[in-house]
Amino acid sequence: MPAAVLVGAQWGDEGKGKATDLLGGDVDYVVRYQGGNNAGHTVVIGDQKYALHLLPTGILSPQVVPVIGNGVVIDPGVLLGEIDGLAARGISAERLLISSNAHLIMPHHKALDKVTERYLGKSKIGTTGRGIGPAYADKIARMGVRVQDLLDPGILAKKIEVALTEKNQVLTKVYNRRGIDPAAVLEEYLAYAERLKPHIADTSLVLAKALDEGKFVLLEGGQGTLLDIDHGTYPFVTSSSPTAGGACAGAGIPPNRLTKVIGILKAYTTRVGSGPFPTELTDDMGEWLRQTGGEFGVTTGRNRRTGWFDAVIARYATRINGVTDYFLTKLDILSGLERIPVCVAYDVDGVRHDEIPMTQTDFHHAKPIYEEFPGWQEDISGAKVLEDLPPNARSYIRTLEEMSGAPISAVGVGPGRDQTVVVRPLV
Ligand code: GDP
Ligand code: IMO
Ligand code: MG
Repeated sequence: MPAAVLVGAQWGDEGKGKATDLLGGDVDYVVRYQGGNNAGHTVVIGDQKYALHLLPTGILSPQVVPVIGNGVVIDPGVLLGEIDGLAARGISAERLLISSNAHLIMPHHKALDKVTERYLGKSKIGTTGRGIGPAYADKIARMGVRVQDLLDPGILAKKIEVALTEKNQVLTKVYNRRGIDPAAVLEEYLAYAERLKPHIADTSLVLAKALDEGKFVLLEGGQGTLLDIDHGTYPFVTSSSPTAGGACAGAGIPPNRLTKVIGILKAYTTRVGSGPFPTELTDDMGEWLRQTGGEFGVTTGRNRRTGWFDAVIARYATRINGVTDYFLTKLDILSGLERIPVCVAYDVDGVRHDEIPMTQTDFHHAKPIYEEFPGWQEDISGAKVLEDLPPNARSYIRTLEEMSGAPISAVGVGPGRDQTVVVRPLV
């Protein structure tokens, strides 16, 4: 049986949580494959709202086995807090599996994330401050601490000691901060180990067996295509590979198991943190989109930057990820506009670009070339099928579909689980 991957097509916060939750009824496993608690995935079920950071959205579907894959970086304190928070609301995380190969976010990662951002000043990336970048840096430098190290106190102690011998020099001598006590860290992490032990597994093997048995596996990405370390707006990106190519590495599933790549695409664009954003609106219209769309960060509470839909980016996401289906979210937010501008290409210093410019410098100079489409005035939040939508809303969908180069198979008309127009089955 196949596996499907669900990826953000823009700069994150496209509505991946809602889309994953919606598919929860049809899948057996939901696997987070990269990122960490920089993610904030919102799910609204009836009058209940859940904000998930590290836990895969499948945690909310009782028949789904939620898996944290090897590509994720885990802050164990945050994970346990999230598990306890859900338990208090009657949701069990007993089924959760955590890859033994996933890396741990350590206290020095969080300290370094904050202090390096401060030192960058105006050039800062605007990270979530959760230690994501430093944790991935240590992973690549082969000095990371992994989940499986929690099972061997001797190795754990040694790894913490080695890491802090270097990092404390950096914290104290370069950044003038206080050093971190290895013994205190060891004690803290050994306490986490006790609680996490029952969840630790060879998740790649578990998933291979599940696929052989005909189970359906959904890989849930964090962040989005333009935040990808390789394919995003570097250096204003996250430190992992949210794109479809990263899903296999981060879950331990071979590429030929993937049959669907579902791109999540917002009907307009948002971005949190620094970096280029050609269609950004810094005027009243941008504020209107932020307020109407509730565009405030789930993780950090920061204002999200807002702007019109960018078809250049959507085409890029289709190409980089091999998107087979799009889930277009938040169409309801655009109700009430007379005309809706869509960016169809960029003007870079007088030259038209139909694709993302090759260099960072050109992308920073990109000015949107807009086409305008007629809006609709009706409230569409109760729409169930395509025919319930006003003709102009349907033609907006068709336009985005043609410009993006992949079919729009579902359309979000509200945050609720049932507020979705399904055009064709996604899995
Ligand atoms: P994620 O990080 O991609 O999971 O997205 P976030 O949860 O950070 O942000 C998406 C926000 O939009 C959340 O508050 C969702 O509840 C909400 N949302 C998702 N789909 C829709 C939709 O179709 N319409 C409306 N109005 N809200 C939506
Ligand atoms: P979800 O999964 C939006 C952004 C940060 C910053 C950059 C690097 O909810 O879509 P990091 O802490 O990852 O080193 O920060 O990436 N960022 C996100 N923006 N949604 C997210 O996750 C994000 N995760 C990271 O704002 O610009
Ligand atoms: Mg989010």
